[in-house]
Amino acid sequence: MPGIGVAVTVDGVRHDDEVEACLPLTHYLHDRVSGGLPLGCEAAECGGCIVLVDGVAVKSCLMLAVQADGCEVTTVRGLADDDAVRCLARTFRRYVRRCAQCLPGLTVAAVDLLRDQEAVLSEQEIRARLAGVRCPCGDEADVVRAVREAADVLEALGTRTAG
Ligand code: FES
Ligand code: FES
Repeated sequence: MPGIGVAVTVDGVRHDDEVEACLPLTHYLHDRVSGGLPLGCEAAECGGCIVLVDGVAVKSCLMLAVQADGCEVTTVRGLADDDAVRCLARTFRRYVRRCAQCLPGLTVAAVDLLRDQEAVLSEQEIRARLAGVRCPCGDEADVVRAVREAADVLEALGTRTAG
């Protein structure tokens, strides 16, 4: 069966490909994009596949590659130079230093939250916004502490308003 043509920009690099209609975006990113992302549960449970699609955090296992046609997809690799990621890398290292399997998805979801200048980063809101990512070997309270501390640093740097 002939594939469907898609043009997807991943971490700033445009990819023109033919894909099967039912190919999940998570498989597309894993199989076709150089240095692709590891596969997770593929059942919308772990949150390890979270990427930004046109700036919105989505679980890529819930989206088809054809739906990303014409979109800008940002994975955790594409966020390496982001101030929020640098802060989170430090605070996750301090508070969530176990197997680290959750960190790609957790980092993208946390960046999405920290970029939301309207978000009031209460413990409740951080828990709610990161509820889609599972960290079975960690402690939710430590994840909240790490995100809150990263927010404090960004506020001190002036790249985020206090919230
Ligand atoms: S791979 Fe998408 S939520 Fe686990
Ligand atoms: S540190 Fe192991 S799943 Fe989060």
